[in-house]
Amino acid sequence: MNFAVIGATKGLGLCLTKQLLEAGHRVAAGAIVISDTLTALAAAYPETLCVLQADVTDEAQMQDVAKQAAAFLGEIDALCNVAGVLLDQDRVKLLHECDIGELRRSLDVNTVGPVIVVKCFYPYMKKGGNVFTVTSEGVGIRSCGTWVPCYGLSKAAATKVSGILNASVADVNFFSVHPGRMNTDMGRTTAQIEPEESAAGFCRLMTGETPVSRENWYIDYKGNTMDA
Ligand SMILES: NC(=O)c1ccc[n+]([C@@H]2O[C@H](COP(=O)([O-])OP(=O)(O)OC[C@H]3O[C@@H](n4cnc5c(N)ncnc54)[C@H](OP(=O)(O)O)[C@@H]3O)[C@@H](O)[C@H]2O)c1
Repeated sequence: MNFAVIGATKGLGLCLTKQLLEAGHRVAAGAIVISDTLTALAAAYPETLCVLQADVTDEAQMQDVAKQAAAFLGEIDALCNVAGVLLDQDRVKLLHECDIGELRRSLDVNTVGPVIVVKCFYPYMKKGGNVFTVTSEGVGIRSCGTWVPCYGLSKAAATKVSGILNASVADVNFFSVHPGRMNTDMGRTTAQIEPEESAAGFCRLMTGETPVSRENWYIDYKGNTMDA
């Protein structure tokens, strides 16, 4: 099958890219930084991996990424946008103390980014294909903690992106997915699972091994319904 993964430099995105390739699929991987690891992976999978420089906040670049991904893959069966940031001051400050630059950056990458990715890739998705945006847990309107407030605001809004898109178009399905609390650079302090476990769940979602339905568009990496 033909897949796109955006945010593939490290963490969940890198694990997911590797697992899709190991399972024999074709992957266009977008990464803000094309690391040595990704370059080595591209050399190991010359026929099935295409690595593209991709910043989800840059619409013009993302248009080009989508075009190149489609030229490599043909119609795209499923896309997963993993890109996200949790910035340093956001880990220690309350919302009324926050660094406004960090708030803007969090919204730009975590909320605007998923819209840009969909806007650019939609024309190249297979009819009936699936777009998975990695969001988070605890995004309900009344679910208001104090921790990482800029991140929390941005992921709450990002989660609604998939619902609004499902209401907007009928020929592609959109899902917001909580990946679990993973042992990555971002999640190390609260981790419950390794990113490999989450990536395996995303592989099953993307291939259809775990069935998904657009009526149930906010799920976790195992396909379980999340509380909104
Ligand atoms: N870890 C957790 O426990 C946890 C829990 C809930 C949700 N999530 C979400 O799961 C996703 C993956 O997280 P992770 O734990 O794997 O985090 P991570 O290791 O920090 O990886 C985040 C990825 O996003 C990329 N990225 C950041 N800004 C980008 C941009 N503007 N354009 C393209 N890519 C960009 C990063 O690239 P660079 O490193 O090169 O900047 C990196 O590859 C994120 O959306 C995160 O919010 C994680």
